[in-house]
Amino acid sequence: MAISSQLPALETVFSPQEIGVRVAEMGRAITLDYQDLLAPEEPLLVIGILNGAFIFLADLVRNLDLPVQIDFVRLSSYQNQTEASTHVVMLKNLEKEVKGRHVLVAEDIADYGLTLAWLLEHLRRKKPASLKLAVAVNKTARRRVEIPLDYIGFTVEDGFLVGYGLDYAEKYRQLPGIYVLKTPQ
Ligand code: IMP
Ligand code: MG
Repeated sequence: MAISSQLPALETVFSPQEIGVRVAEMGRAITLDYQDLLAPEEPLLVIGILNGAFIFLADLVRNLDLPVQIDFVRLSSYQNQTEASTHVVMLKNLEKEVKGRHVLVAEDIADYGLTLAWLLEHLRRKKPASLKLAVAVNKTARRRVEIPLDYIGFTVEDGFLVGYGLDYAEKYRQLPGIYVLKTPQ
C-alpha cells in the first residue's frame, strides 16, 4: 500500500520547510557555542539515540560548521507508570571514547524525560569535558524528571507525533514532516 494513501490520518504539526528552517537555526546556535572549544583533532562527539534520532541527527550535523564525530546508542526503556523511574537496557553501546570529550546528545523527542535522564547520568559517569542535549521536539505535558534541554527544535504540550524519525509501531519514521495521528492506526 502506498504510504501516501495513509496520509489523511495524519495532520501536519511542523512542515518539512519549517523543520528545515529551525534545524538550520539550531545548527548556527550550536556552531557559535562550540566553535572556540573544538579543534580538528578534538571534534564534537554527537551521540544519536536509535532509532528515532537518525533523521534529526543527520540534518543537524549537516548544519554544523564544526569538526564532528558521530556515534549512536540504542536504548530500550520499560517505564514504571507509578513512579518516576525507568528500567533502561542498552541494546547498542557507544563505540567512541567519551572521557574528556565535548558531547552533544541528539534525540527525537523528550516526553517523560526518563530515557534522556538515564542516558545523561550514564554519560556523566564517563567524565566528558561537557555534555549537552539537543531535541527535535520537547513534549512538556508528561515530563516526570527535569532534564537540561540545551537546544530545542519545537515545543508541544501533548499529542502523539510521528514522522521525522518518530514512529507509531515502527511506522511513519520516514515522513519528512512532523504529524499528529488523528485516529489510532
Ligand atoms: P521518555 O522521555 O523517557 O518518555 O522517552 C522518550 C521516547 O519515547 C522517545 O525517544 C520516543 O521513542 C518515545 N516517544 C515519546 N513521545 C513520542 C511521540 O509523540 N511519538 C513517537 N515516539 C514518542
Ligand atoms: Mg526514541
